[in-house]
Amino acid sequence: MTAALVPAPRQTRRHAPVRSAADLLREARARERAASIPEAIACYEAAIAAAEAAGAQAVLAEALRRLAVVRHLRGESADARALCRRSHAVARQAGTDVLAGEALNTLGGIDLETDAVADARQNFLRALALAGQSRELRARVEQNLGIVANIQGDFDEAVARYRRSLEAYRASNDEHGCAIAYHNLGMASADCQQFDEAERYFQQSYEIAKHASDAYLQGLCLVNHAKVHVVRGRYQDARQNAEAALAVFEQVGVGSAKADAYRVLGMVYRETGRPALAESRLRTAIELAVSAGSTLNEAEASRELAILYQGMGRNQEALTLLNAAHARFGRLDARVELVHVDGKVAELEATYRAVVREWGQSFESIDPYTYGHCERVAGGSVAIARALGMDEQAQTTVRIGAYLHDLGKVRLPHGILGKPGPLTRDEFEVVQMHPIWGVELLEGVEFPWDIKPIIRWHHERYDGTGYPDRLRADEIPLSAQIVGIADVYDALTTARPYRPAFSRAAALAKIEDRRESWSKAVYGAFCASVAQPGAAGAVVNLQQHA
Ligand SMILES: [Fe+2]
Ligand SMILES: [Fe+2]
Repeated sequence: MTAALVPAPRQTRRHAPVRSAADLLREARARERAASIPEAIACYEAAIAAAEAAGAQAVLAEALRRLAVVRHLRGESADARALCRRSHAVARQAGTDVLAGEALNTLGGIDLETDAVADARQNFLRALALAGQSRELRARVEQNLGIVANIQGDFDEAVARYRRSLEAYRASNDEHGCAIAYHNLGMASADCQQFDEAERYFQQSYEIAKHASDAYLQGLCLVNHAKVHVVRGRYQDARQNAEAALAVFEQVGVGSAKADAYRVLGMVYRETGRPALAESRLRTAIELAVSAGSTLNEAEASRELAILYQGMGRNQEALTLLNAAHARFGRLDARVELVHVDGKVAELEATYRAVVREWGQSFESIDPYTYGHCERVAGGSVAIARALGMDEQAQTTVRIGAYLHDLGKVRLPHGILGKPGPLTRDEFEVVQMHPIWGVELLEGVEFPWDIKPIIRWHHERYDGTGYPDRLRADEIPLSAQIVGIADVYDALTTARPYRPAFSRAAALAKIEDRRESWSKAVYGAFCASVAQPGAAGAVVNLQQHA
């Protein structure tokens, strides 16, 4: 009994400073909520000093962590990280795992917003290991791990993490937390193309958000559900949802979210054959995204407008928009927009290829004999580029250039293309203009890939006998030589109005006769590429021709 009384006076002596540290912490939080940041920082620092003096480890850990958040928001992230680490060390020493986990969760959040996503993941995983008995912390950490997985493009893991987060929010009766988890589950499920689940999640999130009067979350659920309706071809539902979302966002006043809703409306009008309305909605989406500074929404809306223009035959405008979107996606900050940037860029490049391929095919239709020419030249050119060991970027350049290499032929007078007989000298002079016209048609269109040299110089020859500029040897860019040889091979192996198609062997023999037209490297890579099984049809015995 006596022994038990011994520490009492000491406790009493420490009681006042402990309370004052806790009071200071409460005051700091109140000032932070009132946006009095310098005062909040002073209070947090006083709370830290008082807690140190009193040996109040839990208050100390909490004050250090909250001060870290404020410092981070002021852009002092190095200080913020140091504070988190100290908070973690203090909490561990005091044996309060949950507070240690909170410190790591905050540290991960700072990593996510400033530096490496991989570091964030590590810290969140460490936080999760410490969160054991705290459902609240586990719910938030799993949510953060879901966001990291989403940014890294691992949508299955994102779904699994969000589900665990949802369970933890449910167990701690946090309805609003559940609503956010449902919404994120909807997004990740849609990314995984699990549309039934996505719709269910958006609906559940919407119900809770409505009940909790969270207008912004209601709007997000409506617009993201609308995107699923568009994918599933339910345009009427999509339009209703997007319009309802727009009404909500008008009230809340979030420009980037409004841009998203306008984009969905534009897509609906485009897909239901109302191009003028589609154009107006998509233009509005771009303007709103620009003024809200939302790079992601601007890039996405530009891509959708490009698809509309392509459908209307406005190909130059489509390409200009796709180029703009490509540049925007290149500047996207995954941490800010919470998106998998590589996946978005790959998606855009697929759209780009589709637009360019269709444009290439549209001018093939002028001359039935060249049907499929662009596609075959593109395939052949990429195979040669691969044989030369060129990287993905260079292969894409060659592919896009090949689709558009004969673009200038749209200006050829009727009757020259597909003429049933060899061309006269005058006619051939006109034909020789097509590389120049092709580049002219793309004037003002800036591409992410350097394709204009391919269009202008695909008829140049290594020995200086080509056109239009009679370039020689390595004055001719490699990409133009590649498309040039693939072009000749396809022309030889295709029937013309005045001659049948050459057999593969005969075409290769003809190319061998003209091998001075290309550098040794390009000729060699061409031979290697056509020798690949399936590259351009049957396997060729090169021994006979090389
Ligand atoms: Fe050509
Ligand atoms: Fe061609």
